[in-house]
Amino acid sequence: AAEKTALKERIKRLLKERKAVLVAHYYVDGDLQDLAEETGGCVSDSLEMARFGRDHPAKTLVVAGVRFMGETAKILSPEKRILMPDLDATCSLDLGCPADEFSAFCDAHPDRTVVVYANTSAAVKARADWMVTSSIGLDIVAHLHAQGKKILWAPDKHLGSYIQKQTGADMLLWQGSCLVHDEFKGIELDLLKAEHPEAKVLVHPESPANVVDLADVVGSTTQLINAAQTMGATTFIVATDNGILHKMRAAAPGKHFIEAPTAGNSATCKSCAHCPWMAMNGLQNLADVLESGSNEIHVDPQVGKEAVRAIDRMLDFAA
Ligand code: 13P
Ligand code: SF4
Repeated sequence: AAEKTALKERIKRLLKERKAVLVAHYYVDGDLQDLAEETGGCVSDSLEMARFGRDHPAKTLVVAGVRFMGETAKILSPEKRILMPDLDATCSLDLGCPADEFSAFCDAHPDRTVVVYANTSAAVKARADWMVTSSIGLDIVAHLHAQGKKILWAPDKHLGSYIQKQTGADMLLWQGSCLVHDEFKGIELDLLKAEHPEAKVLVHPESPANVVDLADVVGSTTQLINAAQTMGATTFIVATDNGILHKMRAAAPGKHFIEAPTAGNSATCKSCAHCPWMAMNGLQNLADVLESGSNEIHVDPQVGKEAVRAIDRMLDFAA
């Protein structure tokens, strides 16, 4: 514990010395989330992380999350220095959508408006008309559908089919998935609900359809935390990365949170209910990158210029 406190103090001192700001996602270690809040940074969902990083005057941002979050920050602010505790922290959705294959898919369907999820590489975003996050994807697709547009969606098939069902839009889906959310099981969730009939079910839309179907609220990490805070219920079943429970418990003290069932448990399944890449962010490597200035995110400037259009469209829509 003493070592942890010393590390946290060192990080606070380094953030000040380097005039850097810490931007963290809700799935990273709770200590990092608290540090981000205590030091004037932010802890939030992907949309808010992007907006905060763009608007904050600091010249150095440290992004505690996964690679696409660091890349989005760099694309929005090419003049800023973006550091990450571990540059190998990726995402199964990003890995499952290589830019060359994606580009061929787009070429084969030139009549469709290309909408990609934030969880993609800079090169995939460069090929897109729109980038969306889970908090606003549904609204943006509904807007495009109302204009009569047909959509090519990538990479998350579960989020894509959820949005398709809700909006009735014509959507051609890339078949990617998140290895964490893909593990949530509808049948087991139904049984758990029966044991806790009073509980409300909070689900991230990267989960399979039979899990989403059982939800009282479907939304981004921020939207799920807000629901936990504002809904009258005192018990919630949560189908998303369990890193979110740190903030949920703090935001809704006295309420009871139960993790939704997965195929395995933490002893048998490395990624069950916790993203292995989010878990690569720790106090030690955060302190180390602040000390050394290493682990900087670079995005090819030309790719960045093409990718920023899709991100700006979302941010303008959200404004
Ligand atoms: P949010 O935008 O909802 O925070 O989701 C990001 C993510 O990677 C979920 O797995
Ligand atoms: Fe990607 Fe899933 Fe990890 Fe989110 S939780 S970063 S979608 S692998």
